[in-house]
Amino acid sequence: MSLATLNRPLNMGIVGGGSDSFIGKVHRIAAQLDGKIKLVAGALSIDPKIALQSGKDLFLSENRTYLNYQDMVAKEASLPAGERIDFVAVVTPDDTHVPISLAFLEAGINVMCEKPVAVTLEDAHRLRDTVRKTGRIFGIMHGYTGYPLVRHARAIVRSGKIGQVYKIIAEYPQDWILPHGDDKPQIAGWRMDPKYGKSLSMGDIGIHAAHLARFITGLEIDTLNADLQTYTPGGRRDDDGNVLVRYKAQGDAPAAHGIIYASQVSAGEENALTIRIYGSKGGIEWHQENPNQLILKTKAEPTQILTRAQPYLDKLAGGLNGRNQRIPTGHPEGFIEAFANIYLDFADDVAALAQGQKPAAEPIYPDIDDAVFGKTFVEYATRSNESGEKWLKFPEI
Ligand SMILES: NC(=O)c1ccc[n+]([C@@H]2O[C@H](COP(=O)([O-])OP(=O)(O)OC[C@H]3O[C@@H](n4cnc5c(N)ncnc54)[C@H](O)[C@@H]3O)[C@@H](O)[C@H]2O)c1
Repeated sequence: MSLATLNRPLNMGIVGGGSDSFIGKVHRIAAQLDGKIKLVAGALSIDPKIALQSGKDLFLSENRTYLNYQDMVAKEASLPAGERIDFVAVVTPDDTHVPISLAFLEAGINVMCEKPVAVTLEDAHRLRDTVRKTGRIFGIMHGYTGYPLVRHARAIVRSGKIGQVYKIIAEYPQDWILPHGDDKPQIAGWRMDPKYGKSLSMGDIGIHAAHLARFITGLEIDTLNADLQTYTPGGRRDDDGNVLVRYKAQGDAPAAHGIIYASQVSAGEENALTIRIYGSKGGIEWHQENPNQLILKTKAEPTQILTRAQPYLDKLAGGLNGRNQRIPTGHPEGFIEAFANIYLDFADDVAALAQGQKPAAEPIYPDIDDAVFGKTFVEYATRSNESGEKWLKFPEI
């Protein structure tokens, strides 16, 4: 517990996350939820007026409210340790993740980055090289893996309780692109621009579903076959897609197969990330919109509904009133707390490094390899969709 031995909160910086942002606000709130991290600096918006006003609203000091990330890197890197930021959260649109992350890493500053890590696979690899070279801590925000019941699902599946995994169905339907009266979509319009990559369905949300399947089962993709489509009139990125996945076999057992479906045009669906995994003895089912419950199905016994903050949960889930579960059972915790859990684990590694200790060898928070996995998934789904060959061999991560 390296946070426990650091005699101060970690200093957080943020790029993006001003009043004009969606997910940056969640990062700011979640990181500070447990009092272990304090936001002290930011280049909060691409719009200088919003950046300045957001800095004021958040009570950042004027000399640490920056108008661009380049000034922020230069100034923060010149401050003494303990005063400068210990890490930066990069919560800007996709095409800026790599240049901003590289600048901070090369200045010796740890990074928590939003997904997808990069627009191209080459850039994702370039970033991983820099993470390795600099030895800094790098997290990628697949926030859904912070939910206690998702972590318990991982413990169940990996313990063998549901037997050998046969089938994984991970789906992430939304409907925000469909017209809704005269209202502007609640989600930023930049997502419609193909400069962020050809696939919106997989690049924006399918990536979370693919990561969730990997996080829970530990299975690696062997081959995949994608069918992506664009329903939005005049749309320039696909907004719906299905990917068939064959996972690598474990020993002599037959390999697991699965489906990853993601869509922004599934009417009536808000943020309906769901995963179902079936094995030779049982199955699990988890719904993001009801995240404090995990359904456990077995052939031999009646279906069980497991709930948050119960003593029967695996320690990975945080334990009763434990680190990842702040309030007693029956009181809903949600999206922000899941992000906060990722931040606690990430912060432990940042604090370890600050004290000259070794970070976790296999961190539970998503790291640079998960970032490369996510981008590889999106890239190969896109390539398969365009290829007549269809089944593509997935590379080693
Ligand atoms: N992990 C998740 O669950 C999740 C959810 C939503 C979005 N995201 C990802 O988060 C990122 C941001 O998405 P969003 O929906 O919050 O976008 P947004 O448009 O709502 O917010 C982007 C923010 O970045 C700022 N910004 C843009 N360029 C900047 C720059 N060069 N310097 C400083 N600030 C800059 C904007 O002013 C704004 O504050 C995307 O990469 C997206 O894929 C992840």
